[in-house]
Amino acid sequence: MSVYKTFAIAGTGGVLGAALRTAFSPSSPRILTRGNPPPEVGNETFHIVDYDQVPTLVEALDGIDVLVSCLSASAREAEKNLARAARIAKVKLFVPSGFGADLVELQKRAGGDSPHPGWSGKIALYDFIKNDAEVKGLPYLQIVSVLFASLVFKFPVGFNLEDKMTTIVGTGDEKIALTTQADTAAFLYKALTTLPPSELEYKTLRLSCSRRSWNELVSLYEAKTGNKLEKKFVSVEDALQRCRENTSGDKFVLGLVWGLLWIFGTGQGDVVDDNAKVGFEADEHAIDKVVDAL
Ligand SMILES: NC(=O)c1ccc[n+]([C@@H]2O[C@H](COP(=O)([O-])OP(=O)(O)OC[C@H]3O[C@@H](n4cnc5c(N)ncnc54)[C@H](OP(=O)(O)O)[C@@H]3O)[C@@H](O)[C@H]2O)c1
Repeated sequence: MSVYKTFAIAGTGGVLGAALRTAFSPSSPRILTRGNPPPEVGNETFHIVDYDQVPTLVEALDGIDVLVSCLSASAREAEKNLARAARIAKVKLFVPSGFGADLVELQKRAGGDSPHPGWSGKIALYDFIKNDAEVKGLPYLQIVSVLFASLVFKFPVGFNLEDKMTTIVGTGDEKIALTTQADTAAFLYKALTTLPPSELEYKTLRLSCSRRSWNELVSLYEAKTGNKLEKKFVSVEDALQRCRENTSGDKFVLGLVWGLLWIFGTGQGDVVDDNAKVGFEADEHAIDKVVDAL
């Protein structure tokens, strides 16, 4: 059984925040925000913080067992301070803002470094919590939820529906774990409230709802809409190079998209999920619902 009873979530105004607040509602979570709290969805209480001031964060984390960060991918200095405060406040488990690719695998496949600044901050945060004397000993948990199904068919991630084309990296047959925000949040809450610390500390848990290859996604789109898409194939090597070449200014997002397509093309999206370990029944129709809504 889990020993964790009190939860804090930092940064819930974005794509995953409301789902986290709903899933954690039974525990009356404490929500850390810089201000302008988003609309309440349950039993949460809001705590205004300044991420530049570690003492305000320590105070906000007083008595908290688990801290979940859902901060923006660009807020890495803020998240480092959050980790510093969590260590001082004796938080028992820290869940950094990830909720995407497996960062350990990504770094390994890219040859040891981060291929794009979109992931560099996240990887640097893990390096920090693993190695920095200030925070060493703060247990952490990585959540991998690969790609939210709601983002499929949306420009710019591989589909350009206006021009009736799609870019496929690799063969297009590699499966991708597609998830939902609601399931990501519920999966995490269930893991934290049912698994013992030995199954959570310094571990990675992977969620999958629907599993589809890019070719299958194209077929689903074509069958539903009657529109044929032109497939443009790019090798995984080329995709990685384009990811590395487009890292700043108005090319930043382009590089990030090439990185995502490289992740899928190299099979990194085909995770072996931990749904059974967590005892979690995922929404297997996640992608069907997106297709139905097209
Ligand atoms: N798997 C997927 O398909 C997928 C898709 C999208 C995102 N994600 C991941 O989900 C996580 C959250 O992403 P998101 O898009 O929801 O993030 P976001 O909307 O950019 O930011 C989330 C919250 O972080 C806080 N924040 C933003 N900038 C900050 C700053 N500079 N300093 C301190 N706090 C800041 C804000 O909360 P307050 O205003 O309340 O302080 C904001 O509501 C990220 O790790 C992202 O990579 C995964």
